[in-house]
Amino acid sequence: MANHSSFSSLFLLFSLFLGYGVLQLQASHHVFQHLQTTSPASSSHQPYRTGYHFQPPKNWINDPNAPMIYKGIYHLFYQYNPKGAVWGNIVWAHSTSTDLINWTPHEHAIYPSQPFDQYGCWSGSATILPSGKPVILYTGIIDGKNTQVQNLAVPKNLSDPYLREWIKYPKNPLMASNVENQINGSSFRDPTTAWLGHDNIWRVIIGSKYHRKGLAILYRSRDFKKWIKAKHPLHSGKNTGMWECPDFFPVSTAGQNGVDTSIVGPYVKHVLKASLDDTKHEYYTVGTYNTILDRYIPDKGSVESDSGLRYDYGKFYASKTFFDNKTGRRILWGWINESSSVEDDIKKGWAGVQAIPRKIWLEKSGKHLVQWPIVELEKLRVKQVKLPSKILEGGSVIEVSGVTAVQADVEISFEISDFKKAEVFDPSWTDPQQLCIQKGASVKSALGPFGLLALASKDLKEYTAVFFRIFKGQDKHVVLMCSDQSRSSLNEDNDKVTYGAFLNVDPVHEKLSLRSLIDHSIVESFGGGGKTCITARVYPTLAIEEKAHLYAFNYGTENVKMSSLSAWSMKKAHIY
Ligand SMILES: *[C@@H]1O[C@H](CO)[C@@H](O)[C@H](O)[C@H]1NC(C)=O
Ligand SMILES: *[C@@H]1O[C@H](CO)[C@@H](O)[C@H](O)[C@H]1NC(C)=O
Ligand SMILES: *[C@@H]1O[C@H](CO)[C@@H](O)[C@H](O)[C@H]1NC(C)=O
Ligand SMILES: *[C@@H]1O[C@H](CO)[C@@H](O)[C@H](O)[C@H]1NC(C)=O
Repeated sequence: MANHSSFSSLFLLFSLFLGYGVLQLQASHHVFQHLQTTSPASSSHQPYRTGYHFQPPKNWINDPNAPMIYKGIYHLFYQYNPKGAVWGNIVWAHSTSTDLINWTPHEHAIYPSQPFDQYGCWSGSATILPSGKPVILYTGIIDGKNTQVQNLAVPKNLSDPYLREWIKYPKNPLMASNVENQINGSSFRDPTTAWLGHDNIWRVIIGSKYHRKGLAILYRSRDFKKWIKAKHPLHSGKNTGMWECPDFFPVSTAGQNGVDTSIVGPYVKHVLKASLDDTKHEYYTVGTYNTILDRYIPDKGSVESDSGLRYDYGKFYASKTFFDNKTGRRILWGWINESSSVEDDIKKGWAGVQAIPRKIWLEKSGKHLVQWPIVELEKLRVKQVKLPSKILEGGSVIEVSGVTAVQADVEISFEISDFKKAEVFDPSWTDPQQLCIQKGASVKSALGPFGLLALASKDLKEYTAVFFRIFKGQDKHVVLMCSDQSRSSLNEDNDKVTYGAFLNVDPVHEKLSLRSLIDHSIVESFGGGGKTCITARVYPTLAIEEKAHLYAFNYGTENVKMSSLSAWSMKKAHIY
């Protein structure tokens, strides 16, 4: 490590030539320790730092780890590079909160120190034992070949509600590849929260792959220390590649309340989520946990692929839920990465934020989940601006003035009364993202695009458009939700791809609602009350600070009724 400076200039050179290529390699967990910058050239001009999303003062962050509540205090650990704005040197950084919005940082909780983790401390999860004691399972890297094992850490002092110090179990690792178990040691990571069966045996799953098959490898234990691999994985996916950060949890079929991870029975279904290393997208399925076979069986049509369901159709990865027994909610955390170039990340001195924690529950149909920003976020709302119900004529744009448009929370809803002219939906349109790319915010149809222009410059040279389009399908209407970043910045070095997804709302009988959390370089959007979510990262050059504006628009040819619009300026959260 003596040659840091020459290596970091080499890295700068590399990144200038390779752009995203470098970022992708690093995100796939290749170890480039020699390429780390030690002192980021952090710029004082920071128009893209967020006001109320979780991010540390500087440097790289990725996966949220071991979220939990203990003695009334919420804990968030996260993958963090203390030395720079690119991936590497990963430790478990740690912050606590009483409201999931304002945070107090603590010393790093887990960092490489032992033979079973000296090459890295990667992601993991917390389990609250029946005694109330929290424990953490995490992935350790044991050599320069990326060999992965699973380790246990326990709090040093259970009277400390901040759980500031963690002790690694001396008999680690507890799970490792060996000649008998057919585990691919360099693709074996991210233990979940464990659950306890009626047989008093703990279960946990670890993400893995064997050749092209993605795996949720199942382990069992009586004492949380001696773990035995089950014959079969809990579930697997053909030709999906590596499953990172699996998450497995029950959801109630009887409302929005969450249930604890070990709950089984007639009033729950189960959800399995995998983060696919190959595509960097997450997919989840809804299904049944067969406790006799110890297998998870997704419902018919529920798959881990592009025709399946995603928590978020924009930027959202390596997510993890936990059960908050204080409020009876299951809460989802996810990492939002940058869309800027590596050299821009190094210049600004940081990369990565956490999405606003989302309450998550099963929709009435039982077919998919619903997500909504935790209610505590609303404490940051100030200066509500409410527009009266109003017809938005075809081609109209109206400004929402009186809010700090660069740091805002907006809720808008639309009603359509006349569907006669709706564009006919072509059944070959199976890829909603492609459809949104083709029919961006500037392509008119009868019903749509209509929605919000966020982080917009006064002259509309820059904006991020979040909008709907309604099509006439064979037996019902099809609603498309898009987040179009193509005009989000005059800086062409950013990834400005447009995102899109279908929204399971019947616009004949329901209002079409949209909520967007706008935060300097984030537009995190919830369609249909949280049935479809799309998160975008954008880096405007004109629409920054007080020069950002917010508009509602209807570029379709037909009128739509804006039945309500409320927007709030958002206060800054205290995060460090
Ligand atoms: C939440 O779980 C902890 C640990 O089991 C327990 O001590 C606490 O009383 C529970 N809180 C509520 C509100 O049920
Ligand atoms: C454990 O934590 C409590 C609460 O912070 C503190 O009062 C006590 O001194 C700690 N014990 C030790 C051994 O550090
Ligand atoms: C094991 O994982 C490594 C790292 O992703 C991969 O290169 C290798 O092909 C995998 N082997 C098998 C048998 O899956
Ligand atoms: C992060 O962002 C880049 C560019 O926008 C993307 O290509 C990459 O796959 C993303 N996701 C992860 C998990 O690294």
